[in-house]
Amino acid sequence: MPHVVTQSCVGDGSCVFACPVNCIQPTPDDPAFELAEMLHVDPVACVDCGACVSACPVDAIKPHRQLDDHERAFALINAAYHRTPRKRALLAPVRPPLRVRDRGQPLRVAIVGSGPAAMYAAEELLTIPGARVSVYERLPVPDGLVRSGVAPDHRRTRRVSRQLDAIRRHPGLTMHLGVEVGRDVTDAELRETHHAVIYAVGAAADRRLDVPGSDAPGVLSATELVGWYNGHPDHADRTVVLTHRRAVVVGNGNVALDIARILTADPKSLEDTEIAPAALAALRESRIEEVVVVGRRGPEHAAFTLPELVGLTSTPGVTVGVDPAELTGLPDDDPKAELLRSLGPPARSGRRITLRFGLSAVEVHGEEAVSGVTFAGAGSEHQRIAAGLVVASIGYRGLPVAGLPFDDATGTVPNDEGRVVDPACGGARPGTYVVGWIKRGPSGFIGTNKACSQDTVAALVEDYNADRLPSPPRNVSVEDAGTRVGARGRRRPRTWSR
Ligand SMILES: Cc1cc2nc3c(=O)[nH]c(=O)nc-3n(C[C@H](O)[C@H](O)[C@H](O)COP(=O)(O)OP(=O)(O)OC[C@H]3O[C@@H](n4cnc5c(N)ncnc54)[C@H](O)[C@@H]3O)c2cc1C
Ligand SMILES: NC(=O)c1ccc[n+]([C@@H]2O[C@H](COP(=O)([O-])OP(=O)(O)OC[C@H]3O[C@@H](n4cnc5c(N)ncnc54)[C@H](OP(=O)(O)O)[C@@H]3O)[C@@H](O)[C@H]2O)c1
Repeated sequence: MPHVVTQSCVGDGSCVFACPVNCIQPTPDDPAFELAEMLHVDPVACVDCGACVSACPVDAIKPHRQLDDHERAFALINAAYHRTPRKRALLAPVRPPLRVRDRGQPLRVAIVGSGPAAMYAAEELLTIPGARVSVYERLPVPDGLVRSGVAPDHRRTRRVSRQLDAIRRHPGLTMHLGVEVGRDVTDAELRETHHAVIYAVGAAADRRLDVPGSDAPGVLSATELVGWYNGHPDHADRTVVLTHRRAVVVGNGNVALDIARILTADPKSLEDTEIAPAALAALRESRIEEVVVVGRRGPEHAAFTLPELVGLTSTPGVTVGVDPAELTGLPDDDPKAELLRSLGPPARSGRRITLRFGLSAVEVHGEEAVSGVTFAGAGSEHQRIAAGLVVASIGYRGLPVAGLPFDDATGTVPNDEGRVVDPACGGARPGTYVVGWIKRGPSGFIGTNKACSQDTVAALVEDYNADRLPSPPRNVSVEDAGTRVGARGRRRPRTWSR
């Protein structure tokens, strides 16, 4: 009975290292790993030991006979990946353990942010005997987008927070919640007391939908809408207008699918989730029946992933449709293309999600309230879609970090393997590092940040061993410094109690 990786795979590779026969691919050393939409068990090579099940932080792996009806597609997806024979080692290659030179005092590192990238960096650092890590998080609760981004109905994915909790319980780690670096404490203060500072601040802003009318009331960004339904303190008090029968989502990445699912879900199905109570109350009164998800390019370039499309099409009580005339250009023998072709044309009634392709927004209409969007299709053809809510889900964007160089084009901090570099002089900024979305840009799954953080920590340790890091003064302990800055900035939780 082979095992099967299912939708909630976060791609952290834990299963790969647990597998005694290296049958889960791609492995983290494979260049395909970073772009993979999920990991796949080879059903022929699998020895059915279940080691991967125990290793997976989000319970994404199941024996194939225990798959639910809507998960059966994943048995085929796993098997299809392995149809192309790949060379593989007997065991997945593991990273060598980190070794630090004795410099008379333990390595002390401050990490800014507490999302997955921060926690994976902390986990790696804490493999070094005696290492001390202080984590500074601007919000009163930890976990970054695992709490404020991942959709509330993605219950299994949200279980990754248990793994992040376990990392935080390490005795070498101190948490400072409600402390914003750059506002409550400065980079210089952190550098006084630590050998190095790692920025793991994510990408808190959005790409702008830069068309006339996009500032009309009723036009929201994904950050705002997702923050609203997840109770993020910056967005929880927002009013979201749900009085029209149709909403339009511009962009067709996985965030767009999350938004479409939540807006069309039966509110009862969200009752046992961590959705913000105010959002659930609003969704109970919602009149939205249809969400139209609009991609600017053809279906062959759809940004959503196959596992998320499988999940979307199995949402109870919601029909997903697409006009077959829009499905030209799809490759043969591709599981995502096959699934798109299997969808019927858009339904005319009931709760439904309509996928549209090849349409670029050119204008948003409505002054007092948004009333629709005009899109340009191929050639000079324009079409207007009426809607009372428009969400621009066109990607996230990093914000500048006080005192650090910033690449405005990519919304990231310029770096070389995680070492912050100043393009003005081309040199590294000693003791300053980046991980996660502020390092790579806003793409990838939760687990993608693991290898990214491990790479940065490897660079940091190399610098420490080569005496390239300034030493903090011996008379200030991490605890003293943490208490001093922590007391200054702490804010009360407003919406989150977990
Ligand atoms: C809406 C959405 C849904 C997603 N769903 C999934 C999913 O289902 N599965 C999946 O695998 N991936 C998902 N992802 C991707 C995943 O969430 C990201 O890959 C990951 O969270 C990025 O990690 P990060 O640590 O770089 O950033 P973040 O998770 O954003 O963490 C950054 C942290 O830094 C803190 N911070 C920022 N500035 C400061 C400061 N100055 N001082 C102190 N703290 C600061 C922030 O408050 C935040 O806690 C989703 C992403 C989005 C946007
Ligand atoms: N369940 C999950 O696993 C999950 C859930 C949510 C998010 N995530 C991950 O988080 C990351 C971010 O997701 P995302 O959905 O925000 O980003 P994304 O995958 O990069 O998708 C962005 C979408 O916006 C479109 N777009 C960009 N600029 C545009 C513009 N100016 N006008 C119109 N459309 C524009 C893109 O179209 P083009 O392709 O044409 O540029 C694309 O369709 C992704 O890696 C995603 O997989 C994962």
